[in-house]
Amino acid sequence: MRVESLSLQNFRNYERLTLSCPDFLNVFIGQNAQGKTNLLETMIVLATGRSLRAARDAEMVRWGAEEAHVSADIARELGPVRIEMRLRAGVGKRVLVNGNPLRRLADLFGYLNVVSFTPDDLQLVKGSPSYRRQFLDYEIAQVSPAYRDHLVRYNRVLKQRNSLLRAIADGEASPAALEPWEPQLVEHGSRVIVKRAEMIASLSPLASEIHRRITQGSERLTLEYRPFFLAEDEPVEEGLQDLDHIRLRFVEKLHRLRRAEIQRGTSLVGPQRDDVLFKVNGVDARIFGSQGQQRTTVLSCKLAEIRYMEEQVGEPPVLLLDDVMSELDASRRSFLVGEVQDRVQTFITSAYAGDLGESLLARARLFHIRQGQVYTPG
Ligand SMILES: Nc1ncnc2c1ncn2[C@@H]1O[C@H](COP(=O)(O)OP(=O)(O)O)[C@@H](O)[C@H]1O
Ligand SMILES: [Mg+2]
Repeated sequence: MRVESLSLQNFRNYERLTLSCPDFLNVFIGQNAQGKTNLLETMIVLATGRSLRAARDAEMVRWGAEEAHVSADIARELGPVRIEMRLRAGVGKRVLVNGNPLRRLADLFGYLNVVSFTPDDLQLVKGSPSYRRQFLDYEIAQVSPAYRDHLVRYNRVLKQRNSLLRAIADGEASPAALEPWEPQLVEHGSRVIVKRAEMIASLSPLASEIHRRITQGSERLTLEYRPFFLAEDEPVEEGLQDLDHIRLRFVEKLHRLRRAEIQRGTSLVGPQRDDVLFKVNGVDARIFGSQGQQRTTVLSCKLAEIRYMEEQVGEPPVLLLDDVMSELDASRRSFLVGEVQDRVQTFITSAYAGDLGESLLARARLFHIRQGQVYTPG
């Protein structure tokens, strides 16, 4: 799929912009704080309904303006799609797809798919487990409505259960009040876990193959999903994609930790405690990997995400590379470009054109960004 044009009105530091970008490779050069990330953010919001960095819609509305409008024309194999969105403080987003209003924001998923790669993603291997869970959720949510649904419901139950556990710890509620929540917690939580296990099972060989090519056969990468019920030194078991098995493991852990949960006043079980392990040549890359190995691992995973999404939706997603090229050396950069070339529409931002390499620049459509305005050179 390709984003053929974008339009922004009162979005962040853009007063008004109409951008035509029919090419596969688009490069945006601009100094700090000129609007590079803001521009890519529009595509993330149009794809998923939310920003990775704005907690509230109001943050994305240009200061002093009442509302923001963003829209995109997307070329897809099944035909063109037009998404239009209005953001306004205090009211939900209003979204039109091909002119028809969406009833729920959740219905937005699936019209535009994006994979984004920013310097923050370099935390994927060595950062806290929350980065890895976000990686899973972000990816799976774009391709599976059922997953999104279970995740939203799970989080709702978890929140209620946590406030109940706090009340019990404070002596304001009885432990018996927990029981009615358990079937839902286990049900939605187990479905989230099974889907994550399936995703990692698909992603691992894809990432492994890419990693092997980047390292010219010298390193072997594997991804291992670690659901919450596995103890740190416990080996992964069979059956992580078997719903009945997961339900049993969930319930078992729930009973085992009940007393501790009441004491601590918070949930100690559930997929909010899952993790993913990256192993390079059989050892944990988080602990033993060099910085170079960790970077290659992240790059392999990002490129594998593209393949995974392509398998799931039938055509490649759009790739957003925000300020990340300067973090990669020339050989990783050229591998990346070769992998997506003429196949995956790519938007690259950078402060310096020099960080991109001449061969890439020679093939790209070049834009300059200054204070929320986009210029084409020449
Ligand atoms: N709601 C907003 N209204 C106006 N300007 C904004 C808003 N949100 C952020 N900005 C401005 O956008 C600029 C940052 O843009 P960004 O895309 O992050 O820059 P970069 O080019 O470094 O990626 C900053 O100058 C910031 O003040
Ligand atoms: Mg930026």
